[in-house]
Amino acid sequence: MKLNGCFKSLILGAVALALPMTALAAPAPIIIKFSHVVANETPKGQAANYFKKLAEERTKGRVKVEVYPNSQLFKDKEEMEALQMGSVQMLAPSLAKFAPLGVKEFEVFDLPFIFDDYAELHKVTQGPLGAKLLHKLEAKGIMGLGYWDNGFKVMSANKPIHKPEDMRGLKMRIQSSKVLDSQMRSVGAIPQVLAFSEVYQALQTGVVDGTENPPSNLYTQKMHEVQKYVTLTNHGYLGYAVLVNKKFWMGLPADIRTILDGAMKDATIFANSVAKKDNDEALAAVKKSGRSQLIELTPQERAAWRKAMDKTHKDNMGRIGAEVMKDVYDATGYKP
Ligand code: LMR
Repeated sequence: MKLNGCFKSLILGAVALALPMTALAAPAPIIIKFSHVVANETPKGQAANYFKKLAEERTKGRVKVEVYPNSQLFKDKEEMEALQMGSVQMLAPSLAKFAPLGVKEFEVFDLPFIFDDYAELHKVTQGPLGAKLLHKLEAKGIMGLGYWDNGFKVMSANKPIHKPEDMRGLKMRIQSSKVLDSQMRSVGAIPQVLAFSEVYQALQTGVVDGTENPPSNLYTQKMHEVQKYVTLTNHGYLGYAVLVNKKFWMGLPADIRTILDGAMKDATIFANSVAKKDNDEALAAVKKSGRSQLIELTPQERAAWRKAMDKTHKDNMGRIGAEVMKDVYDATGYKP
């Protein structure tokens, strides 16, 4: 067939238009916004970035993970709401921040002296109880993909703290956990809930006198620069569960979800292998800085802290649930 010039150029034009359309037709990557409140150098910060790397490499770019550290996108309370609304897809909040979701059982992790070390903690987080707790989130439209370690908390203040009595009357910043509130009250301190992003300034301006956190958080937020003393109480644990919006996660193509599950498994192994080392290094860095004086406790002093805080367990049994507490005691060998 002989085409006239005008018709020919119409066809050529259409082909030219169709080419970029084909190029554009490549599916846009699936975006996962991962919001968190700590620095990139912390165990959680590093693990989030490692997950991003694995997820993007293994899906060959079909998934893009945008990590927003340091409360850049959302602060503590807002990030939970954002996850439920689907404005972010992934978080790793501290286990002390789950009660507002309606799952108070997670506050079992906040009980003072309940874990002696990471090995005891892992009996819970890597055992049936850990899985059971994560499962409870599903009714809230959230899935828990795993537990990421941080570490054991130290107390900081502007006066030296050796004995539980030294805490009397101190205004102490805590995370939003009723168990932490009651732990601070057990030693006569006045707890005050503040978002993590506000802690440095609150310490600097004297809004609060002191705080508790693992060394990795203390050091990366420069809290040691505005606190004269850090006492190595190791009185409680702070760690995370990685959460995703259930509707988003279950709506992913099955092959992508399988790859991401694998990436999360490896990121979890990574997180839990660096946490102790990071905290040890952070403590050494605080010491080296000379800004805060580190106070070590004798075994007798530590026993006095444990005794003073012990009532926190009984006082919160109704809130956490006797069964959950017993399961943790059975797993760790804790004797009230
Ligand atoms: C805190 O608020 O102290 C911690 O939960 C911060 C974090 O995510 O480690």
